[in-house]
Amino acid sequence: MLQKLEEVKKEFDSQISSVTSIPDMAVFKADFLGKKGKLNALMGGVRDLSVEEKKSFGARANEVKQEMLDAIDKRSQIIEIEAINSKLEKNKQDISWTDRITDKGQQAAGLHPLTKVTRELEDIFLSMGFDILDGPHIEDEYHNFEALNIPESHPARDMQDTFWFKDKKHLLRTHTSNLQIRGMETHKPPFKFVGPGKVFRCETLDASHEAAFHQLEGMMVGKDISVPHMIHFLRTLLSEIFKSELKVRLRPGFFPFVEPGFELDYECLLCGGRGCSVCKQVGWVEALGCGMVHPNVLKSGNIDPQQFNGFAFGLGIDRLTMMRYHIDDVRHLHSGNMQFSEQFRAY
Ligand code: PHE
Repeated sequence: MLQKLEEVKKEFDSQISSVTSIPDMAVFKADFLGKKGKLNALMGGVRDLSVEEKKSFGARANEVKQEMLDAIDKRSQIIEIEAINSKLEKNKQDISWTDRITDKGQQAAGLHPLTKVTRELEDIFLSMGFDILDGPHIEDEYHNFEALNIPESHPARDMQDTFWFKDKKHLLRTHTSNLQIRGMETHKPPFKFVGPGKVFRCETLDASHEAAFHQLEGMMVGKDISVPHMIHFLRTLLSEIFKSELKVRLRPGFFPFVEPGFELDYECLLCGGRGCSVCKQVGWVEALGCGMVHPNVLKSGNIDPQQFNGFAFGLGIDRLTMMRYHIDDVRHLHSGNMQFSEQFRAY
């Protein structure tokens, strides 16, 4: 009897590692430990044993049963982990590489359309000899407002637009124009730089408004720079971006840090000027704010407005991206939905 018991145990030990799924494990367990299982079958012979034999058989049988249960638990855990791992492996996204097939034959993830457009803009500006700047999202009042000729009473500072920190001195930058001030701290004129980045405004969300969006600030300061220089420059820039001549229009615009100030619109590429949700049914899309740098701003940067002047502009990257890729709702851009970004792999 004892020998048979050891044989059953051996059989169990040799088979358990070939069980590879939880349902198979249930069958395997019943086969050895179930009512009609191999262990119970042996128990049937117990009544023929002497009292001594019964004792030692019973003790060993209990041990074997416990060992089997332990082994089944252990093996089940391994099966579950392996199942999770293989699922992970199958759904793995390699976000560290683009434009290549991974060594496992999976298509790598694509760059987000905002990243693509931002990089393209940077390339255009680098080829024109601009420096590229970076700046903080958490900004102080001075760089976001004061140094930009926006006094404390200005409506742009309104609580409704600005996300203020509790100390009332820091905020999430409402525009990339803080880079004008930060750029002047590190550059002596003549200079030209741009800086792309996230900006934040407390706005009602809809198809064309997000509380966090992206701008690209540009500033060019030198001698005898004029409005026609600026217009020519911006028109060239937009046709570079869209790789075609766009219809643009200039409207007067008020920004305290420029004088004169303008808003530049271009014809909506999504509806061809007919009107849609992105252009708010007007057929034109605001591309950027621009103007000649206000003398007070130059003074904030320790630049003598008698000697130097220049222009600045702030371009909205999100809408540009939407136009570029015909995306009709800005919220897609921030959705974090892989299926959305994967569509742009091929562009
Ligand atoms: N900062 C302005 C905005 O966010 C845009 C702008 C930048 C206007 C530079 C003029 C000059 O709307």
